[in-house]
Amino acid sequence: MSKRFLLLLQACTVAKVHGQYEGSGNAWSSYNEVMPDTRYTPQLDYRNPRWCYTLSLSDGEATCYSPRGGNYRSTLGTRCQLSCDHGYRLLGRASVQCMPNRRWSGTTRCRQIRCHVLPLIDRGTYSCTEGVAVDSRCDYTCEQGYEMEGDRTRTCLDGGVWSGTEPTCTDKDPPTIKCPPSRVRLASPGRRTTKVSWEPPVVKDTTGALLADVTLKGQEPGSEFTEGMHVIRYKVYDQARNKAACKFIVRVEVRRCPVPKAPLHGYLTCSSDRNNYGAVCKYHCEAGYERRGTQTRVCLFNRSWTMAVPVCVTMEINTDVRTAAALLDQFYEKRRLLIVSTPDYSNQYYKLQNMMLQRAGCGLNLRQVTVIELLGLPPREVGRIKDRQLHPEVIEELRQALRISTARFSMVLLDEHGIDRERFVSPTTPEELCYLVDTYLLEEEERERLEKNTDYCD
Ligand SMILES: *[C@@H]1O[C@H](CO)[C@@H](O)[C@H](O)[C@H]1NC(C)=O
Repeated sequence: MSKRFLLLLQACTVAKVHGQYEGSGNAWSSYNEVMPDTRYTPQLDYRNPRWCYTLSLSDGEATCYSPRGGNYRSTLGTRCQLSCDHGYRLLGRASVQCMPNRRWSGTTRCRQIRCHVLPLIDRGTYSCTEGVAVDSRCDYTCEQGYEMEGDRTRTCLDGGVWSGTEPTCTDKDPPTIKCPPSRVRLASPGRRTTKVSWEPPVVKDTTGALLADVTLKGQEPGSEFTEGMHVIRYKVYDQARNKAACKFIVRVEVRRCPVPKAPLHGYLTCSSDRNNYGAVCKYHCEAGYERRGTQTRVCLFNRSWTMAVPVCVTMEINTDVRTAAALLDQFYEKRRLLIVSTPDYSNQYYKLQNMMLQRAGCGLNLRQVTVIELLGLPPREVGRIKDRQLHPEVIEELRQALRISTARFSMVLLDEHGIDRERFVSPTTPEELCYLVDTYLLEEEERERLEKNTDYCD
């Protein structure tokens, strides 16, 4: 190797000029350019010759190569490589040269590299070691009840970007829900249902949030529940759609008496469900029969009926009585009366009416109507129920009490309480008679029963 080459190597000895901070507190505006030193006056110092001013780069360094060696770092032709400290970015020329006009060939500064300010996350927070500067480490935490998903820490990298991705705080814990206890209730008296109430379930979420979105599947509290089992379900979702559910049972029991039976030749009409606690049954007898015993029985709480079962016995009309009252009393609350009166058998109205009544017998009997005939004038006066004769004094009293004339044909319809409800002065068809009874005299229950037996007389 030649001596000359060795000398050249020596001339290339690296001379480093370390940057100095200018001492500004504000990192954002503190950039340091390679600035010309205005106070500089070139000096002809041949031991340490300076052509350009000494390079100074804040937060960075200049590495200069002088063709004349390490001590000649500001001489003409010196070339400097400029670089910034870790965490700083170079703005401007990466290398400058000392030029004949005693200036460096360009300007350069180092700017601090910053990451952007990390956004806040829902239900969590973070704290950073050095704000948004390079190498700052930010640690995330979640609020109580939330779990972190994603990167727990992020670091500001050299390039001014954060490592990793933003984590999320999610609610993984389902809420808790507690239903009220199951319950058994008895149906209200006279009903198969009862109102059942309860307090709404107690709901808690691990996050402490108030959960309003509780849904009920089943009947509302305070509504009427029918006999049997009812499952009441509640469910709730927290904000993260974690679900919790609970259920309980409402059972309604109906206390029942033995099923009541209709008596022979009679029938029953009952309220409610026939034999549940509080049901009332009414006993009725068919046409031509009368009830012996109570009319109504009630199903008691102890599952037994009040009173004994009544019976229906054949209705016996005693015509061998001496007063109209004694005769009428026998029909009281049992049967209706149609009293037909005529001065003689040959009366045209009577003949026609008699013919029609024969035809209507069955329908009238179904409607609990008994026909009494008052025929002729004294002394050949006749009073009869079918073929059974009445005493003359009874006939007389009936005419007086009901103001029935002997002079002409007439008819009087009495209800089951003996009250005069309709009068007729001319013959009336069976259809019209039945219509009157059905419309004005029948009780609702009787009418329903009659409708079921419409073809009974055909
Ligand atoms: C049910 O209660 C009624 C009235 O309180 C009472 O007369 C009857 O004896 C009771 N029946 C039974 C089977 O306990």
